[in-house]
Amino acid sequence: MTALTATPPAICLLLLGLASRCSGLHIPPHDAVARVARFVANQVTWASMATISSHDPVRGQPFSNAFSVSDGPLGRGSGVPYFYLTRMEVSVQDLKVNPQASLSMSLAQTDYCAQQGFDPQSPLCAHVILSGSVLQVNDTAEAEFAKKWLFWRHPEMVDWPSDHDWFFAKFNISQVWVLDYFGGVKTVTPEEYFQATPFRKHPHSG
Ligand SMILES: *[C@@H]1O[C@H](CO)[C@@H](O)[C@H](O)[C@H]1NC(C)=O
Ligand SMILES: *[C@@H]1O[C@H](CO)[C@@H](O)[C@H](O)[C@H]1NC(C)=O
Repeated sequence: MTALTATPPAICLLLLGLASRCSGLHIPPHDAVARVARFVANQVTWASMATISSHDPVRGQPFSNAFSVSDGPLGRGSGVPYFYLTRMEVSVQDLKVNPQASLSMSLAQTDYCAQQGFDPQSPLCAHVILSGSVLQVNDTAEAEFAKKWLFWRHPEMVDWPSDHDWFFAKFNISQVWVLDYFGGVKTVTPEEYFQATPFRKHPHSG
């Protein structure tokens, strides 16, 4: 099974309620920065996306909004955050004017940080900011992948109103920023990000 669904080690079960360091999540080492980024991008089910607003009275200013995301199956994500969007949505209207955006994802959106006793602003509560742009997915096979794994993570999407002209989109990454330890933000190129293997392959480690 995947790291997320792995059974906590037996010692954790014994100490449950006392020890907080028993999250089922096996986060990669903090110095494997690209792996941490891929891990966070795979674990979260939603992200905050800042666009440049096209709406008065904040036209031209950053506008941050929550979006459901999926990059694929848990433990085997593609690294590409996919979205299910409608042009009726306020931020999507911004993207039509300017597709550039910033996508923020944090392990605070999982049980991990609370279980470890890490405040969401602590770098130990790993968070990742993607810079880039949002593009409609035109390739049929890629759209099928996006649909499969978005609807798997977000089962109610299948019932979203059909007259809203939903489409699949992806975040086209130009730079990855990682806060996963003390000492300031670290950057990862898209090439490093996509080459990284976020999960350990040994069966015993999940
Ligand atoms: C899909 O097509 C639209 C319209 O031509 C274009 O703006 C967009 O960049 C394309 N998406 C990708 C991933 O190339
Ligand atoms: C996607 O991002 C890469 C890296 O920043 C950039 O070179 C490329 O032009 C982008 N693609 C589109 C269709 O905007």
